[in-house]
Amino acid sequence: MDLAVETRSKSKLDIVPLTKHIGAEIRGIDLREKPDEDTVRAIYQAWLDHLVVIFPGQDLSQEDLIRATGFFGEIGALSRPPKYFPKGFSKILPGIMMISNIRENGEPIGALPDGEMMFHHDMIHAEVPSKATLLYSVEIPSAGGNTLFASGYAAYDTLDPAIRNRLEGKKALHHYNYGTTIRGGQMGTEAFAECVHPVFRTHEDTGRKAAYVNRLMTVKVLDMPEDESEHLLNAVYDHCEKREFVYEHVWRVGDLLLWDNRCSSHARTDFPSTERRLMLRTTVKGVGRPY
Ligand SMILES: [Fe+2]
Repeated sequence: MDLAVETRSKSKLDIVPLTKHIGAEIRGIDLREKPDEDTVRAIYQAWLDHLVVIFPGQDLSQEDLIRATGFFGEIGALSRPPKYFPKGFSKILPGIMMISNIRENGEPIGALPDGEMMFHHDMIHAEVPSKATLLYSVEIPSAGGNTLFASGYAAYDTLDPAIRNRLEGKKALHHYNYGTTIRGGQMGTEAFAECVHPVFRTHEDTGRKAAYVNRLMTVKVLDMPEDESEHLLNAVYDHCEKREFVYEHVWRVGDLLLWDNRCSSHARTDFPSTERRLMLRTTVKGVGRPY
């Protein structure tokens, strides 16, 4: 009997790669229901293989989102409960952050409300960065607000050897003012944080190396003249962001995306400020400092 259930659940999991290097859609799963352990393992492996996975057409409660987050590790805590709730919501559960440009009394109800956001790794400015992020779309604008995902593995594997050799074993400083979305743009209103991590990070699950610097948050490579650091970092960013290493996600309502912050970076395209965008975000805690 168990075997029959197991077989049925496995056969339903349909993994469709979206590009050569990054992104896959997982079809045939309704995350309102609790998958069996084999299915969870298969999803986890698909995520390791594809770095970003998309579960289209979901209809999730906040409890469902929190349960799904738990498949990938321990849910990240958030320090600040929201002040306002969007229409249709009477609460936001602890652990869920709203990403939204919807405003109440002139104030955005969620974080990172407006416009373009440059490539970055979530929480790279923290001692223990988030392992994963999940983002679930509730309301989307008619155009734009797409999320671009870049494979840090593909960038590392194909990087000019002269650049790679110069940066191998080096560390970089990352700095972030909360709320800032463009390098050198308006400072966020919140405090900043900064931290040092390896320029190339080894992924603890796969053992593969990935580029681990980004245009939004990386300040400089340590133990290197500043002009050389600037030159090399710009070359790495330009390489990482090449379209051949990127999957661009055009959102539909009900999409749940999960990405791996250890080996991919992401960015957001601009969208009309006159249209509403509401996403629910959770994170999975990292398991240690990058090494
Ligand atoms: Fe992000």
